[in-house]
Parts: sequence; C-alpha cells; structure tokens
Amino acid sequence: MHKKLFIPGPTEVRDDILAAQAKPLIGHRMKAMTELYTGIINKIQDLLATKNFTFVLTASGTAIMEGAIRNCVQKDVLCCVNGAFSERWFKIAKACDKNADALSADWGKAIKPEMIEAKLKEKKYEAVAIVQNETSTTVRNPLAEIGDVIKKFPDVLLLVDTVSSLMGDKIDINTWGIDVCLTSSQKAFALPPGLAIGVVSDRALKKAESVTGRGHYCNFQDIKDYYDKKGQTPCTPAITLMYALDKQLDKIKTEGMDNRYKRHCAMAKEVQDWGKKYWSLFAEPGYESVTVTCMNNTRKINVADLNKELGNRGFAISNGYGKLKEQAFRIAHMGDLTLDEVKELLKNINEILKLEG
Ligand SMILES: Cc1ncc(COP(=O)(O)O)c(C=O)c1O
Repeated sequence: MHKKLFIPGPTEVRDDILAAQAKPLIGHRMKAMTELYTGIINKIQDLLATKNFTFVLTASGTAIMEGAIRNCVQKDVLCCVNGAFSERWFKIAKACDKNADALSADWGKAIKPEMIEAKLKEKKYEAVAIVQNETSTTVRNPLAEIGDVIKKFPDVLLLVDTVSSLMGDKIDINTWGIDVCLTSSQKAFALPPGLAIGVVSDRALKKAESVTGRGHYCNFQDIKDYYDKKGQTPCTPAITLMYALDKQLDKIKTEGMDNRYKRHCAMAKEVQDWGKKYWSLFAEPGYESVTVTCMNNTRKINVADLNKELGNRGFAISNGYGKLKEQAFRIAHMGDLTLDEVKELLKNINEILKLEG
C-alpha cells in the first residue's frame, strides 16, 4: 500500500505530475529543450517575482549550497547554525577550505537579527549563510529582519537555503535582499527528487567574477553564459524531471502563490494546534515553520511503532531528526497536501494513540 508522505521530503507527488515524466525524450541540445527550459526559468521568476538569474541544476539542493560557497566566498563566511541542515553550511564551507565561523543557537531556537549584526560588527565577512526553514528543528528564521540587518553591511552577501520552504512559505527574494536562494524539487515544490533550483542576484554574480576556485559543475557564471547564449544547461539535465517541473509550475500558477501560502498556513495551524493540545512544540514560540512541525514526545510514545501502525493505514510521518530520534517526531504539511488530508492524518494518530477527538 502506498503510504501518503507527511515527511519533510520527498513529499507526495500527484499522479498527473508523475505521469508528466513519462513523455518521450527530447535531445538536450534541441530547440524543444530551449523552449522547455527557458519556459521553466521564466515561470519560476514570475512565481517568485524576481528577475534575478535563475537556473535549474540536475542535482539535489546541497549542490547549490556548495556552489553558493564556492562562487560567493573567497575566504570569510559566517554560517548560522541552529540545526542539522544549517550545520551543513558550516561543514561545506570548511570542506571548500573557507574560513568559516559558526554563529550558533540551540536546536529549537531561531537565529535573531541582532546576533548576526553583532557578528558582522566584530569581523568583516563576505557572506552570511543561513537556513530559512530548519527542517531538523522546524524553526523558521526571521529572514525579513535578517535581510534588513545585512543591508547595513553593503559588501556582505546573503546565502539562503530555502530547501524545505520555497513554494510553501512566503519568500520575498528581492525585498529581503537574498543573493543566493536555493531549493530542492522534492519538498514544497511537490516534485520527485533530482532537481535543485538557484536564484542568484547581480551582486552575487559580480562577486563571483573575483572569486577563484569556483569549480565547474555549479559555476554560476558558466551556467549563466550558457543560458544567455543557448537557453539551455551546460550539462545534460534530467529532462523527464523538467517535464514534471514545467507542469507543476503551471499548476502552482493556477493555484496562485498567495493561496498556496495560505493553504500552508492553514495546514500548519491545524498541526500546531493539535501539537500544543497533546504534546508541546519543539520550535521557539513565534518561529514555527509553516511547512513542517516537530512535536516533543511528551507522552513518551514509541514513535517508530506509531509510524508502523500509520503505515498500515497508508500514512508516513517522520521521527525526530538525528539526536531527537524518539524524543520528538515531525509532521510535514507541505507541497500539494490539503487541510483535509492533514486532518485525516491527525484523526488516525488520535485513534491509534487513543487521544480524545
Ligand atoms: C533545510 C534543508 N537543507 C538542505 C537539505 C538537503 O537537501 P538535498 O537532500 O536536496 O540536497 C535538506 C534536506 O532535507 C533540508 O531540509
């Protein structure tokens, strides 16, 4: 039996989107590819209300995290760390031989704008790297306010992982001044895994010109040059996933970005209200994610057993991430899921655990 995915990626992909992948292939140097790819880029820019350089890489989102570091940082980068995925920024920067400093907050806590401001006053950084929606803790960092702080330091670039939020949460790339915004296809886009999407500001492209060791596969300038000349990608893309992406972008446009955001907020409220009633929420109040919610396992249930029983009923949720395993559990409410589907899941959990209605 298929288990409906309430896990924070991969998320549920609707049948028509899955079917869109099954069309005959085209050559990646054919005119049809240029039409498909340029169409996709225009649609993403339109939905995100930005003209910033946009590309789709055949890779998972982590590839653009590494690309952002390699293209935008010669030496000094401040990595905001408040969970497992933001820790990844720090590890990548180190692995790329950068001089990375971690600005840490406890798991469950948000990175506050004043914490970043204090660090930027202390030392000259080329970039600040942050995760907008920390999937491991389900904390949503206040990016609008953080963007305002970064603007006070005109040479500092803002690199933002929106892997588990873009196309679910409201992300204002232009207003917040996001220089590199990156995501993966298998989360709030509600697509299969395999594509990463990057949106890069002119400032970041300019900075990249002076950075050495930018690498090859995710070299922003090379990808842009190829796009400008041919309307294609430098290397062979996952063409069938592009078919699915193209169709999904049309469906998102039909729903409307505001409606999509509102649907995510309604699902988040449903899960968070339930979470507060029967458990407690792991995220600091006021900083809860709108795409995924982590509950503290205050009732000391066996999360793996719960998930097994849910599996028998056709649902899957997530255990706590890493060190939070069995101490917490997560329910994702992102992508194309509906409020009714979320209610159905919670009803089933209530039945299994004999929680009252
Ligand atoms: C916030 C965040 N960043 C990065 C990643 C890594 O994404 P990918 O596996 O697509 O490289 C994930 C995956 O769950 C994530 O949730």
